[in-house]
Amino acid sequence: MYDIITFGSATRDINLKSKAFKITKDTSAGAGDKDFVTGEGICLSLGSKIDIDEIKYTSGGGGTNTAATFAKQGFKTAFCGAIGADEAGLRVVKELKDMKIDVRLLQKRKEKSTNQSVIISNGDGEDRTILAYRGAAELMDKNTISWNKLKTKWIYLAPLSGLLCDTFEEIVDFAKQNNIKVAINPSKQQLSLPIDQLKKIFQKVDILFLNQEEASFLTKVSFHEESEIFKKLDEMCPGIAVMTKGGEGVVASDGKYLYYASPNPDRKIVDTTGAGDSFASGFLSDYMRYNGDIERAIQLGLGNSEANLKEIGAKTGLLEKNAGFVRVPVTRQLCSENNLCITK
Ligand SMILES: Nc1ncnc2c1ncn2[C@@H]1O[C@H](COP(=O)(O)OP(=O)(O)OP(=O)(O)O)[C@@H](O)[C@H]1O
Ligand SMILES: [Mg+2]
Repeated sequence: MYDIITFGSATRDINLKSKAFKITKDTSAGAGDKDFVTGEGICLSLGSKIDIDEIKYTSGGGGTNTAATFAKQGFKTAFCGAIGADEAGLRVVKELKDMKIDVRLLQKRKEKSTNQSVIISNGDGEDRTILAYRGAAELMDKNTISWNKLKTKWIYLAPLSGLLCDTFEEIVDFAKQNNIKVAINPSKQQLSLPIDQLKKIFQKVDILFLNQEEASFLTKVSFHEESEIFKKLDEMCPGIAVMTKGGEGVVASDGKYLYYASPNPDRKIVDTTGAGDSFASGFLSDYMRYNGDIERAIQLGLGNSEANLKEIGAKTGLLEKNAGFVRVPVTRQLCSENNLCITK
C-alpha cells in the first residue's frame, strides 16, 4: 500500500541563461492582436550565434515534481506516468529511483520521446519562457493504467494533458470507489471540460488546487473578487479549495473558514519553475500527516515553495521531513452562509 501515487508528466528540462536574451515590450497593434500574449517578449537577433552564460539540466513535470516532495517528506510514493524509450526517459527513471520513488507504475512508450522543455531567461530576475515538447506523457490512457496496482491512501493528479486528460474522470471515480482520497491541480485542458462534467468530478475531490488565473477561468469571476470566487468554488467542491497567488501567497477554504497567508517577506526568489507543484505537494504533505490541519498545510506549502524557488530547477531545494523553515502566520475568517467573511 502506497501513501500516495502521483499522476502527470515527467520532463527533462534544459535551463539556458544569457544576457543576450532581450526583453522587449509588445508594440503590436490592437489588444486582441498581440505578438506576445503576455505583452512582453524575450528576443534573440536573427541569424547570429548567441553565447549562453549558464546551462543547467534539471527535471520537471508536475507528476514527478510532486512525487519528489512526497518522497522527501517520508511518504511511500509512486509515480504513474509515461516516458519515451530514450536517454531522457532513462534519466527520469534513475532520478526517481534515487529519490526512492516507486517506478513500477511507469510506462515506457516507443511512439513518442520523453517530454522535454527548454527554459530560457536572461538572469535579471525577470520571468522565464518555457518551450515545451509534450511527448510520451500524453500517451497514457485508461487502457494502459494498471488499475489493480493502484493500492494507495491518496492520489495526486498534477495537470493532465492529452489522453491522460481524457482519463481524468475515470481516475477520480476509481479513487472514490476504492476509498482513496484525491487531490488535483487541473490543467487548462481539464478546466476546459464541460462545466457539468467538471462539477460532477469536483464533488468527489478532497482538495482542489488552482492558481488565480485558473480559479478565475473556472468560476468566470475576476480574480480580484476573491469572496465571489470562493463562493463558487465552495459550491462546486465540497472538499478544500486552494487558490495560490504567486508572490502574494495563498487563500484556502474548507467551506467554513477562509485561510490566508503570505510568503515569508525575507525570501530569495531565483527561479519560479515548479512553484505550483512545490506549494501543493508541501501543503498536502502536512495535510496528510496532521489529519487535515489546514494551517500547518499552508505553512509547509509556503515553506516548501520558498525553499524550491531559491534555486534553479523544479525539484531543487525541496524540504526534507522535519527540516526547519520559516512558518508564516495564517489568519482565518469565518464565512457566513452568504459567504460574507467575518474576522474571527
Ligand atoms: N514570487 C514569489 N515569491 C514567493 N512565493 C512565490 C512566488 N511565486 C510563487 N510563489 C509560491 O508558490 C505558490 C504557487 O505559485 P503560483 O500561484 O504562481 O502557482 P502556479 O501559477 O500554479 O505556478 P506554476 O507556474 O508552477 O504552475 C504561491 O502560493 C507561493 O507560495
Ligand atoms: Mg500551476
